[in-house]
Amino acid sequence: MSDITFRSFDIPDDITDDLRGWFDAVGLGFNQKQASDEALSRWREEVGRDGWRLDGAYAPASELSLGAHLPVATFATTTQTINTGGGHLEPACFITDVTVRTTHRRRRLLSTLMDAALRRARDEGLTLAALTVTEGAIYGRFGFGVATEHHTAELDTGPRFGLVHPVEPRVEMMHTDASVAVRREVFDRFHAATRGSHTRLAFYDAFLSGAWDFDKGGPNKAMRAAVHLRPDGRPDGILAYEVDAEAETVKVRDLLALNAEAELGLWQFVAAIDLAEKATTRRLSPTSVLPWALTDPRRLKLTGSNDFTWLRVLDAPGALAVRGFDADGEATLEVVDPRGMASGSWRVAARDGRAEVTPASDAVVQVDVRGLASLYLGMADARVLAGAGLISGPDADVAALGRLFRTEQPPHNTSGF
Ligand SMILES: CC(C)(COP(=O)(O)OP(=O)(O)OC[C@H]1O[C@@H](n2cnc3c(N)ncnc32)[C@H](O)[C@@H]1OP(=O)(O)O)[C@@H](O)C(=O)NCCC(=O)NCCS
Repeated sequence: MSDITFRSFDIPDDITDDLRGWFDAVGLGFNQKQASDEALSRWREEVGRDGWRLDGAYAPASELSLGAHLPVATFATTTQTINTGGGHLEPACFITDVTVRTTHRRRRLLSTLMDAALRRARDEGLTLAALTVTEGAIYGRFGFGVATEHHTAELDTGPRFGLVHPVEPRVEMMHTDASVAVRREVFDRFHAATRGSHTRLAFYDAFLSGAWDFDKGGPNKAMRAAVHLRPDGRPDGILAYEVDAEAETVKVRDLLALNAEAELGLWQFVAAIDLAEKATTRRLSPTSVLPWALTDPRRLKLTGSNDFTWLRVLDAPGALAVRGFDADGEATLEVVDPRGMASGSWRVAARDGRAEVTPASDAVVQVDVRGLASLYLGMADARVLAGAGLISGPDADVAALGRLFRTEQPPHNTSGF
């Protein structure tokens, strides 16, 4: 690796050779086709709004290589927020665009970039880092654990669709460009209220309004928007969808609802779309009321579930102090972090939603830092994690830890990055 140099830069105001090279390297890493100038300039504007920092590993260029501006490894970070419960939005290091060029794999380039980014985030005072993954086996070694999941589902919207209590129709279809501001407003309220929610990055505006779809490399004219309104006319739910006419399927791209009535109102609208027999979604909320509201629950099929966001605790006492606790109680735990960042023992005493976290010397429960990630937002129970080998200790103490970390609702995130 001695021939490799590492450089990082913020998003410039104009397209530079370095910016173009970094962008092309990401496309190469994810096997995408070469992007147009318009795609590049849209991406620059969006990542600029999000405040990304771009890191790259550069190899010396030769006459036949891709040139000095295309890094052989890429890594991007931005500080955004995660709802850690009790209405708290905690700034966290979001990581994305992790690639290593085929010719430079398995030389510890990802490890070097990751270690530097996690250390930097920790030094900046961030308590958490988060990412989404292409493959499940990559990030556990860096201390990340699954913290939210998502369900894919298929709904029969034909004649057998029905709600136990049909809701009053208060849905308006709207112009997709006008939907951007409404979706932001609804999302901000959702984000503030929902444990596990991650900030939505700028690309969502163009993607869900159909103004630009990076996969298509152009606008997506199939995207449609509908909004659910409260009786006072204020939006409390919003939908982005496409209809695949050939497959007679409504593809729900995004359904944000602030309450059960809004959720059911939007599903009822989806089911009413003619010339379609079913609807699909990649993000059915784990707290969705739809399965319970259907006259025939078998009209809804969960077709899959997958890990969504992964969390890395950088500062255990800091992260525990900003977590919302749904139960009062006390537990002592030792966090075991092979990379050393979050190691230590703490007593967590929770009352009225917040915890006081103090150093302890008598911890009998050991929590692997990956297990802490899955415990933290309420995704997994302590006893289950103990069964999986990520927590160890006497049964009664593990059970007490589980009771302390139990959440009234599972975590729910609608935003990828
Ligand atoms: C994933 C990727 C960045 C890893 O790059 P790399 O060059 O192997 O990185 P490193 O050499 O630093 O590897 C770090 C460790 O992860 C392991 N690893 C890398 N990719 C892995 C995978 N897909 N599955 C399991 N382990 C993997 C390596 O074996 C190495 O293990 P070690 O520390 O025990 O030696 C690279 O394979 C890639 O660019 N893939 C395509 C794009 C992609 O999927 N990016 C991830 C986006 S979430």
